Amino acid sequence: MIKIFSDYVKIDGESVSLIIKNYSGRAFLVYFGKRLGDAENYEVFDRGSWQSDASNDDGPLSPVVFGSVSEYSSLEPFVRFHDDRGVFCNRFKYVKAEKIDGFYSPLPTSRDKGETVKLTFSDEILKVTVYQYYTVFKGGNVIAAHSEVVNTSDGVITVDGLSSLQLDFVSDKADITYFSGTWKSEFQKKRVEISGGRFEIDSKLGISSATHNPFFTVKLCDKILAFNLIWSGNHKETVEVSPYGRVRIQTGINDYNFNYKLKIGERLVSPEAIFTVSESDDDITREMQNFALKHIVNPKFAYRERPVLINNWEGTGFDFDGEKIYEMAKTAKKVGIELFVLDDGWFGKRDNDLSGLGDWYDNEKKTGGLKILADKIRSLGMKFGLWVEPEMISEDSDLYRAHPEWAMKIPNVTPLRRRSQLCIDICNPDVRKYLTKTLIKLFKDVGADYVKWDHNRAMSDIYSAMLENQGEYFYKYYVGLYSMLAEITAALPDVLFESCASGGSRYDLGMLYYMPQNWASDNTNAYDRLFIQEGVLTAYPQSCMGAHVAGYRKSTPVISLESMFNVASIGAFGYEFDITKATEKQLETIENQVEYYKEHRQLLQYGDYFMLGKGLTESETGGWIVVSKDKTEAVAVIITREIGSKRYRPLFKLKGLDDNAFYKVTMRPQDNVEEVVEFTAYGDALNSYGVDIEDIRWRETDAKETSTAFCSRMFYIKKIR
Ligand code: GLA
Repeated sequence: MIKIFSDYVKIDGESVSLIIKNYSGRAFLVYFGKRLGDAENYEVFDRGSWQSDASNDDGPLSPVVFGSVSEYSSLEPFVRFHDDRGVFCNRFKYVKAEKIDGFYSPLPTSRDKGETVKLTFSDEILKVTVYQYYTVFKGGNVIAAHSEVVNTSDGVITVDGLSSLQLDFVSDKADITYFSGTWKSEFQKKRVEISGGRFEIDSKLGISSATHNPFFTVKLCDKILAFNLIWSGNHKETVEVSPYGRVRIQTGINDYNFNYKLKIGERLVSPEAIFTVSESDDDITREMQNFALKHIVNPKFAYRERPVLINNWEGTGFDFDGEKIYEMAKTAKKVGIELFVLDDGWFGKRDNDLSGLGDWYDNEKKTGGLKILADKIRSLGMKFGLWVEPEMISEDSDLYRAHPEWAMKIPNVTPLRRRSQLCIDICNPDVRKYLTKTLIKLFKDVGADYVKWDHNRAMSDIYSAMLENQGEYFYKYYVGLYSMLAEITAALPDVLFESCASGGSRYDLGMLYYMPQNWASDNTNAYDRLFIQEGVLTAYPQSCMGAHVAGYRKSTPVISLESMFNVASIGAFGYEFDITKATEKQLETIENQVEYYKEHRQLLQYGDYFMLGKGLTESETGGWIVVSKDKTEAVAVIITREIGSKRYRPLFKLKGLDDNAFYKVTMRPQDNVEEVVEFTAYGDALNSYGVDIEDIRWRETDAKETSTAFCSRMFYIKKIR
């Protein structure tokens, strides 16, 4: 609900309010927190030190909707631009606030919007107009915001930086949690507290990147704020604490090697940022996850159960043929697996990663005919999926030989190769047209049910002959990519897409908008996955996170097949190894796992997710629980890393259960544990006291106790009255 009073704009979520006050032509952000009642005039806010004129080097002292260049502030400006004389100073006036029905954006923006308010700011020096938009939604406490610069001047202007959202607060310190990492070590939770200076996370790699995910939270003394971006390219988030006790938070596209020219009348629209406020980390997670399902993921798939899949990549690499794939599919079918995903190596000349990218046609000699293979797998009663990496090109490919100018490279400069490949120039409309047509035809011809869309290198040698100004490259790349993805996914409405970028290097809401799943990491070791997945699930729904039983045989120390299952089952679940090499006993275990997963699939994929305890990143014991919306059933996995000689007897407090309900707790039978655990308890005891499982010896019989990386158990919890 949005209300505009004479001096105020009040933007309400279900239980949060954001209040903006007009004070002498400036827009102050006077409140963001727990929902307040409506008032014509909040006199309490007039008691603050609101100042329209700067009175010191860090002025204005009060939190503003956006900070600008030369308002006599040392704090980071929200928007920067200059004219052709090089003049870069602004003097913004807050003109008006109005409710609007919708807005234009060339980028994906949240679905199923509630109300939007548009604030107009006019720069008296350069005569440029800036709009700031806030959108609220029915139910939930997430607000979306973005900005727009319109060149209302009488000459060309160049935008040098533009945030999507700024929030200012009165506080002298900020405690920031963010998720950073590398290839195979994505989403590592990090914390930093600042009481001065500026802290920044960003990406400069052309993809949102594993380096810093755009999701982050900021704890101020009495509240937790959380932010994310609907954007897949370079981003920048800053948190700044001024010596005057002000905290400024900004998020948006990165101004690194960015500048954008606007002719008279032209505009630049920022990606949408989403944000919320709460007093609890659990609420933040649930708000962010629910928002993604309701307002980001394609509604057709948002609540649809995801198939149990098998992917051949870790099992075969490039070394396979049609017969091998069919054998794998047959064995997989026997244990109940529903979808076969044929990964890299089925196309062009591609027996290693030196060649072939761009040639999106069947290598018939290898596959024995892709369509024939897909049909054979389908006739087993399975679905069929295919891997592609369309934003790349190998120099050793027919496509490159025909169109060397389609690669992303600077004229007369030898481009940098990564994984022996170049990026393709998505800013070129011919490239987009060619790829869109080729891929739609390919997926239709093969009858693909599932597509894994990969992106395996960071961008370098940024240049497109199609652009007059290369400073616009990073932005226009994504405008182009998103338009392609919109066209491809619309032409194939029943195909489930999974996004991947060397694992989780483009795990963001922009990609999730088109592709309901994202591969979390190329690191499939179940121990490492504990931390990666805990990070991912802080902000993204479990049904969107690809998680496989894999790394099988390779892991040291030993991780049991049962623990691998317990870890992977909190995602869009599958297997990824050469299943034809599994023993009868292992196949029996897998069959039981698949059956158990299917039985509880709805709950595992769409139940309310809670991390248990402080989380495994911060403590030796932890895990997760998913609870049905009506709290009648739940599945929990509890994990201990405290094993070996120490006889550990942890108490695990569960979360989210109905305090007054009486539950039966049953441990999932594992092939490597002897105990049978079954007991009853009230929800309040399980939530507040915990699960006291003295009969569990934290040991697994198929792993050498001292070399086991961790032990895990899964429980089904059912309300009996
Ligand atoms: C990337 C992906 C893997 C696999 C390979 C294939 O690394 O993350 O899952 O698809 O590419 O080359």
